[in-house]
Amino acid sequence: MSAVMPSPRDAHGRPLHDLRLSVIDACNFRCGYCMPADRIPDGHGMDSNARMSFDEIETLARAFVHLGVRKLRLTGGEPLLRKRLPELVARLAAIPQLEDLALTTNGSLLAAQARALRDAGLRRITISLDALDADVFSAMSGGRGRIGDVLAGIEAAVAAGFERIKFNTVVQRGVNEDQVLPLVERFRGTGHVLRFIEYMDVGTCNGWRREQTVSSAELRDRIAARWPLRALGAGYRGEVASRYAFEDGAGEIGFVSSVSEPFCGDCHRARVSADGRLYTCLFADEGTDLRAVLARGEDALADHVSGLWSRRADRYSELRGLPAVGQRKHVEMYLVGG
Ligand code: GTP
Ligand code: 5AD
Ligand code: SF4
Ligand code: SF4
Repeated sequence: MSAVMPSPRDAHGRPLHDLRLSVIDACNFRCGYCMPADRIPDGHGMDSNARMSFDEIETLARAFVHLGVRKLRLTGGEPLLRKRLPELVARLAAIPQLEDLALTTNGSLLAAQARALRDAGLRRITISLDALDADVFSAMSGGRGRIGDVLAGIEAAVAAGFERIKFNTVVQRGVNEDQVLPLVERFRGTGHVLRFIEYMDVGTCNGWRREQTVSSAELRDRIAARWPLRALGAGYRGEVASRYAFEDGAGEIGFVSSVSEPFCGDCHRARVSADGRLYTCLFADEGTDLRAVLARGEDALADHVSGLWSRRADRYSELRGLPAVGQRKHVEMYLVGG
């Protein structure tokens, strides 16, 4: 039995609650805001032997649980490209203290896998969905995705028992703004939760310019003009999305406003890439390799991560725009899964 360790606090007093674990850096899409096709060639990705094995991932998850992590989200790239993913889910779902096991996917491969993931113990799923229109959807996925596949994935997920699916829509000025109201209309009243994400300056490939970001306030006004909204409190401390209910009772939507209203003050998320590097911020420049210590077991790793977390001082979104900060290199989003 491993020792219970005190939960570490970082340099700003923030605890470690969530682990976001990438199981693969490859993706079958080339979204321009993440992996633009002209920058990231087909076949891109680390060798499969560079990725942590399922044994390593389970040990890593257990180490983070010792430090107080109760919520684990599997990410990619596209996590459904990782072979035998349901087997990994089953191993993680068996960790007793882990209260929440979730997955973020682009949905394109979900139709074939939703049932196996559910049976393995996955309880929550988030699907990236930037458009309903077939052409806009295809363009936003870098010409790789088909909306029909994602809609089939959603149907399969619902049939497999996933409820209250979250949909993440990144809105880019002049690209998919016209998809916002159709998306709201489609998911209102279904029990699923649509969230609009401000386009962010993550990674080094997307050529982000601030004027391409559509602020949550602007989107909220547009949506509320059609379907009046009322602000809701956070579902839990440190929730990244601000929540709004439709006045007519047709459910809720959310906004993730990392650019216009940074939320670093409560940020309690650690990210680990598929090759076992720890990133203490979505905008971190380089990660810290955990694998060498991981080889010594979960207690050694917990101790090591506790030390790393207690030295964490990241708050990039709050500092964005300061000249010295904007210049820094950022980890690619597809390595840490958003
Ligand atoms: P729940 O557990 O369902 O509340 O999910 P979540 O909203 O925490 O996670 P999700 O992966 O759906 O997050 C939505 C998007 O918000 C991500 O894809 C990122 O684009 C962004 N995001 C999440 N966490 C952070 C963060 O810590 N910092 C910043 N800047 N953006 C984040
Ligand atoms: N800005 C905002 N969100 C992004 N994502 C990826 N790149 C960006 C970006 N530049 C998020 C999306 C997607 C998730 C996997 O990562 O929310 O759904
Ligand atoms: Fe793939 Fe997701 Fe990045 Fe799009 S945002 S390229 S689906 S990892
Ligand atoms: Fe957390 Fe970094 Fe995002 Fe701020 S910018 S909320 S510190 S991940």
